Amino acid sequence: MEILLIGQEGQLAFELERTLACLGSVTALGRQSHIPLDLLDPKGVSAIVRALKPDLIVNAAAYTAVDNAESQQDLAYRINAEAVAQLAQEAKGLKIPIVHYSTDYVFDGQSSHAYLEDDPTGPLSVYGHSKLQGEIALRDAGIPHLIFRTAWVYGRRGQNFLLTMLRLMKEREVLSIVDDQRGAPTWCRLIAEATTLALSQCIHEGRLQLGHRQGTYHLTAGGETTWYGFAEAIRKLGIERGYLPEACATLSAITTAQYPTAARRPAHAVLGTQKLRAAFGIALPTWDKGLDLCLTAMGD
Ligand SMILES: NC(=O)c1ccc[n+]([C@@H]2O[C@H](COP(=O)([O-])OP(=O)(O)OC[C@H]3O[C@@H](n4cnc5c(N)ncnc54)[C@H](OP(=O)(O)O)[C@@H]3O)[C@@H](O)[C@H]2O)c1
Repeated sequence: MEILLIGQEGQLAFELERTLACLGSVTALGRQSHIPLDLLDPKGVSAIVRALKPDLIVNAAAYTAVDNAESQQDLAYRINAEAVAQLAQEAKGLKIPIVHYSTDYVFDGQSSHAYLEDDPTGPLSVYGHSKLQGEIALRDAGIPHLIFRTAWVYGRRGQNFLLTMLRLMKEREVLSIVDDQRGAPTWCRLIAEATTLALSQCIHEGRLQLGHRQGTYHLTAGGETTWYGFAEAIRKLGIERGYLPEACATLSAITTAQYPTAARRPAHAVLGTQKLRAAFGIALPTWDKGLDLCLTAMGD
């Protein structure tokens, strides 16, 4: 199976390039790759897809700068919505499926329960809205697809909360961390592994057939916490594993109102993942177990 993976440099794409290699031949392309693929260049994207003729497109690229998106709306929509619509048309032309990723930020975070896939959306930010438009474009294209909504993604490379905390906890004496937004921090390696496991179940006689299992799924770690709770766990495990000195920064819990950002974020964006478990028998470990596994892997 020939797989075109878009977003080579991203934290999730990095892991996907490795896990998807078990399913076939992966061509991972991004703006810096040997064949540069820029989602802002529709003609270039068409030419690449038509030349490669993959059996599957996995799109892990996105405009992910949540706060910057408020002032760069055009860029966010072109990458997160228009480019996804174009990829869907290319996939339709080749009669191949697409795997795509979306976000908990498509919800408004006002629900007291974990959101299910069919719950009404209500993004609070340009980023969340642009990602929702990408989802809609993919569904409307009428091609076989999997959309995995994930959340609070971190990993061993790139820009993420884990790496920022490990750096700042060495530089500062006190860190103020928001304690009234709830979510499930999710290690990108586990997202990549779950994606690959799900796809492997849809390969029949060498061909990928999503069949009735196509659709939108929530794919996050189990459990929930706040950014403060996540930071506390990073601090504790970081000291235990020798990534942080005993005398690293102490943490102070603050409210969202005390930490104004350009983009509004959902207060309670916990995603229910039972649909994924029912369809594929896949459930990620709890967020603290995932963090433990990630920190262990950092020493490899
Ligand atoms: N990060 C999170 O907390 C989070 C939460 C929920 C959902 N998600 C979703 O999960 C997926 C993966 O996110 P991630 O955390 O891996 O993001 P990431 O580390 O920020 O990587 C995003 C990738 O997209 C690429 N990209 C951006 N603009 C592009 C363009 N015009 N053409 C080609 N590539 C472009 C970037 O390339 P450059 O290096 O060239 O910029 C980068 O490789 C995305 O769909 C994201 O929306 C992420």
